[in-house]
Amino acid sequence: MKFFIDTANLDQIADAQDMGILDGVTTNPSLMAKEGITGGENIINHYKKICELVDGDVSAEVISTDFEGMVREGEALAALNDQIVVKLPMIKDGVKACKYFTDKGIKTNVTLVFSAGQALLAAKAGATYVSPFIGRLDDISTDGLHLIAEIRMIYDNYGFDTQILAASVRHTMHIIDCAKLGADVMTGPLSSIEGLLKHPLTDIGLATFLADYKKGNS
Ligand code: G3P
Repeated sequence: MKFFIDTANLDQIADAQDMGILDGVTTNPSLMAKEGITGGENIINHYKKICELVDGDVSAEVISTDFEGMVREGEALAALNDQIVVKLPMIKDGVKACKYFTDKGIKTNVTLVFSAGQALLAAKAGATYVSPFIGRLDDISTDGLHLIAEIRMIYDNYGFDTQILAASVRHTMHIIDCAKLGADVMTGPLSSIEGLLKHPLTDIGLATFLADYKKGNS
């Protein structure tokens, strides 16, 4: 299972990278705005900094909603670095642009996916990644994890190569449940990844080991 971090915060990206478990980064216009990164040139420079920090794939989202605009933006983003994955919205022109980039050998991430039908279309267009938003489904009393299971079954039925990138992950249990269901990738905040570290018996056990060592070596 690949671990992506879902943020545009450089410190948090560096922190996850330092741990040695990071496979990539996902961003979106809201995450960029949260870090105060606005305006075309600043956004481009920020993507460059992110690519310098990590080894893996970096999803960069287009703002255009028409095919020509998505192609123009996506090509400029992809030219920045081989790590860039062009992130496209799940709308008709987004599907068309996904097929265009697939045919050109450029990696894509189809985002804002909330149904199995949308995931099927993304796979048909050859998407590298599909991003079902599980947290936002949970927010409206719909089981986000059920969507991951549905997509897994459909992709396995037909051998689609598109990787299921569980997005809108909000907490540690989302990661564990996505792993059980066979999501290829998860993207979540640093806190959700660090939550995997925690167990009180680990803390108690370590404290005991250190205390016993101290007794024997004092
Ligand atoms: O990866 C998608 C993500 O950025 C959306 O997360 O928490 O805003 O639903 P959230």
